[in-house]
Amino acid sequence: MPRSTVARIDLEALRRNYQTARGRAGGAQVMAVVKADGYGHGIGPVVSALDGLAPKFAVACLEEARAIRETGLGHPVVLLQGVPAGNDIEECARNGFEPVFHSFQQLEWLERSDARPAFWLKVNSGMNRLGIHPDELAGAMSRLHTMNADQGLLGFVTHFACADDPDSTMTAQQTSVFEQATSAFPGLMKSVANSAAHFLPDQPMFDWSRPGIMLYGGSPMVGRTGPELGLEPVMSLEAPLINTRMVPAGESVGYGASWVADRDTRMGMVAIGYGDGYPRHAGTNTPAAINGQRVRLIGRVSMDMLAVDLTGAPDAKEGDTVELWGSTVGVDEVAACAGTISYELLTGITGRVPRRYR
Ligand SMILES: Cc1ncc(COP(=O)(O)O)c(C=O)c1O
Repeated sequence: MPRSTVARIDLEALRRNYQTARGRAGGAQVMAVVKADGYGHGIGPVVSALDGLAPKFAVACLEEARAIRETGLGHPVVLLQGVPAGNDIEECARNGFEPVFHSFQQLEWLERSDARPAFWLKVNSGMNRLGIHPDELAGAMSRLHTMNADQGLLGFVTHFACADDPDSTMTAQQTSVFEQATSAFPGLMKSVANSAAHFLPDQPMFDWSRPGIMLYGGSPMVGRTGPELGLEPVMSLEAPLINTRMVPAGESVGYGASWVADRDTRMGMVAIGYGDGYPRHAGTNTPAAINGQRVRLIGRVSMDMLAVDLTGAPDAKEGDTVELWGSTVGVDEVAACAGTISYELLTGITGRVPRRYR
């Protein structure tokens, strides 16, 4: 019998979250960000489920774009990091991949190439990771024009550093820098919004938004959970209870003996650990659920197992299914307990855990 530790993926919930993004996109078209294997949900099933809804997909790299083509879908695919080498440009043109060029090096590759893919230009509006500085944009544009390489230019992209924090003034600042920098080039499209921007009142959304995490039900906003924002969990991470026992008061459980029972405690071992991508930093009191009842982790997460205190689920027995995150326990809650964000948890589930699709 196969191990019953699984990630159940609700593709209908994914589709509904996409519609929520569209409803919040203020009339912009919505490209679905499906990088990192569809945020850990499986890029093939994710793009197939969004076929007919999302007109465009966005990924980080060429390998991910190829994975979309392997499903047979012909949607345009935006390459958010452009290309790693000049000779990749021809593949973009041939396959409908739209690189986002972010540096003069990449523009030089385009100029030298005979291929002319549709492409975007990334503007550095303040994030300072990638992008052409606003002061250099006019130079980049005239260079593209002179070299007759601007034919495929679709528009401009920028990315926000602090959109997850509605109190930050940085998103408005970046929007203003971006608008100013691109105002000299009317008629081209603009794309700025990650998931968080869909939840900021008065945020201009321009022509295309680029939500990722919200499609998968994770919260893009600091201190809020996905369900609080009207998002539905897409992944339910489940593992079986493989042992139960009484731990007498004063005895410990697991590596490091870090948790010691302060009273006789019925506990259960769950067949999932950091070898499956469950975060080792999730400490005692991190929630899980059995038959809809909340329980808490106790002690350290091992590679293949973790322990839960079964006091909250007195009827729990060996063979029962434990939800590590899903509809009862939100992935954002677990992320907060592990000192991280839902993005890292969802993308971190390893290949040992089969994805089962609904
Ligand atoms: C350039 C770019 N756009 C959009 C996204 C989607 O962001 P989010 O998952 O926060 O919606 C990302 C994700 O990191 C990104 O790098």
